[in-house]
Amino acid sequence: MHRPKISLIQAPTPLHRLDRASVDMGIDLWIKRDDLTGFAMGGNKGRKLEYIMGEALAQGAEAAVTCGATQSNFIRQLGVAAAVCGVQCAAAAMQTPCEFNPPLTDGLTRDGGNVALGEWVGIDLHVYPDGTWDELNAHAEDLAQMYERRGLRVYRIPVGGSSPTGAYAFWEAGREVGPDFDCIVFASSSGSTQVGLAHAFRDTKTKVLGVASDPEPEIVEDFAELSRGLAALMGGEPVDTNEFRVFQDMVGPGYGIPSKEGNDAIRYLARKEGIFLDPIYSGKAFAGLLELVKRGEIEGRVCFWHTGGLPNLFAMRSMV
Ligand SMILES: Cc1ncc(COP(=O)(O)O)c(C=O)c1O
Repeated sequence: MHRPKISLIQAPTPLHRLDRASVDMGIDLWIKRDDLTGFAMGGNKGRKLEYIMGEALAQGAEAAVTCGATQSNFIRQLGVAAAVCGVQCAAAAMQTPCEFNPPLTDGLTRDGGNVALGEWVGIDLHVYPDGTWDELNAHAEDLAQMYERRGLRVYRIPVGGSSPTGAYAFWEAGREVGPDFDCIVFASSSGSTQVGLAHAFRDTKTKVLGVASDPEPEIVEDFAELSRGLAALMGGEPVDTNEFRVFQDMVGPGYGIPSKEGNDAIRYLARKEGIFLDPIYSGKAFAGLLELVKRGEIEGRVCFWHTGGLPNLFAMRSMV
């Protein structure tokens, strides 16, 4: 079935071996470089946006509205994609969306990083006081309605681009990686990366292992729902809740807050291989990979999927 798609990224992204880290860690370690998509300073969202903006344009959208953390990588990449397509972009944000009250202390600055990049392309960013994800979604809906009252046709996009369309992009991305890895490890949050890859590798030996950036065990329920949406889109069966493997113990102090382990992983890969990770997602995911190797839970031929996020290196409040 034809799915509208626009071209944003340079694919396939590089996939190469990490010789020094392989020797050091005692595994055959490879890296998939979605930090090098060539679009909007890189990151996994460029893939999703090729299909999301394709669909938005096919529906005649004049404004794209979403939500996320103030320093969201998705908001930055959506803003750039929208600008490229001549569509306005608005986003509702909270510094640290969180289910806990009071929220955790800020991990990132309120300007610089992704916020600064968003200003270059004219994102209409509305920052609200911290609260829950449900409250943030309600703010996004208010924003969408505000744009509609201005007479614009609005395309609504869930946090992180995690619609079935976004997950479809990662099902397709799976084809850039052969079936001969023992496992693929990556940062997992709003779910379309993990759901797409879980569908792509379900009938292979490759285990798809997410390392959570959010401390919410019920995240797998959301993944299962997204998988049902993807199965409805593509045909075939959804992946069950209990088939998703997400490691929850690498979040550190909380979502959006850098951790000691994550930052140590950034130092490790930068000093060993000359490759930077980010403090909120990919650094914590690589810390998870190091820990899983240490525990003997993974071995053999391993692919680390670098999902980007590098602008947040320039929005750190302090180093841990
Ligand atoms: C750098 C980075 N890595 C990983 C993720 C997680 O991807 P997903 O939201 O598809 O689970 C995100 C999402 O915000 C991200 O920005």
